Amino acid sequence: MSHTVVMIPGDGIGPEVSRAVRLILAAADAPLEFVEHHAGEAALAAGHNELLPKETVEAIRQYKYALKGPCTTPVGGGFRSVNVALRKTLKLYAAVRPVRSLPGVKTRYENVDLVIVRENTEGLYSGVENDITDGVVCSMKVATRPACHRIAMWAFRYATHRQRTKITAFHKANIMKMSDGMFIEESRKVHERDYPNIKYNEMIIDAACMRLVQDPTQFDILLCENLYGDIVSDLCAGMVGGLGATPGANFGDTEAVFEAVHGSAPDIAGQDKANPLALLMSATMMLNHIHTSEADEACAKAALKIKNAYNSALHDGKTTGDLGGELGTEGFAQAVIERLNG
Ligand code: NAI
Repeated sequence: MSHTVVMIPGDGIGPEVSRAVRLILAAADAPLEFVEHHAGEAALAAGHNELLPKETVEAIRQYKYALKGPCTTPVGGGFRSVNVALRKTLKLYAAVRPVRSLPGVKTRYENVDLVIVRENTEGLYSGVENDITDGVVCSMKVATRPACHRIAMWAFRYATHRQRTKITAFHKANIMKMSDGMFIEESRKVHERDYPNIKYNEMIIDAACMRLVQDPTQFDILLCENLYGDIVSDLCAGMVGGLGATPGANFGDTEAVFEAVHGSAPDIAGQDKANPLALLMSATMMLNHIHTSEADEACAKAALKIKNAYNSALHDGKTTGDLGGELGTEGFAQAVIERLNG
């Protein structure tokens, strides 16, 4: 049995890391078939007249799974984020980002094993910004009770399935008493009513960041609203080797889009420097998700084979420059492929 997956190469380093990951998936006999669709600047370059073509969204609705490269969003002016639009359109409300220490990758920290669960559809990402008067602008932070509730439910359900023991909600409800207040209120409610066996605590985000860098091993699952989840994801990525080594996934109730935490990295695009590991790890998350959803053992088998192979490459120091190695994007892909069967 083969599963059709929408491949969105994206912008900047997206096409190079996507190509590398597809080579590895094919070499590992992952039971996947890809249909390629575009989003971002790549969609315009491919002749579409919109950044998020309807065909791309419809294809994800049809096939349920997508593997996505990063899409550029201009800073300041210009178009609004395609990534945010995709998450909102498909109601991919839960972003999950596992952050783990990797074999052979030396950092300041050992034994990091965290999962960030990020609310993906509202907060300051509502995109509601107004000119109030000359020199005064207002960006609106939106929180709705159903969205706060469903992300809390998702996090506790995830904790239960993954045998995780503790959830910490990051917030700033001392200042944003209503929006962040509602976020922790719903988290607390879900904990007390449905999941009393999972440990739960709350931490003000600034102090939580200090504690994270002092000792990340005191945390397990970090439950964050949208912006905090975005920032904390990069902070945690830095603990285990950086953005080249941190995968992610966006889940809705039916569709799931797997993408690395990193962006399009224009500073290194087209130079064979990008680390494809983060997207590769996202692809293994996808294989495991398909295995769980459709009981296809071949997906779990391919995921394990790939994980063992990239761990072995890392262990042998066969890495890209961001992790201290000398390989390029393609060289790393080859190093993983060589280790798939042994
Ligand atoms: P970035 O993640 O693209 O890059 C930050 C730094 O990390 C850069 O020095 C880059 O070279 C390095 N880096 C990132 N990924 C790497 C990889 N795989 N291997 C080696 N080094 C890597 O973040 P930045 O510069 O803030 O954003 C660039 C663009 O990406 C922006 O337009 C931003 O909006 C977009 N972006 C898109 C995301 C998505 O599609 N999900 C997520 C984050 C940013």
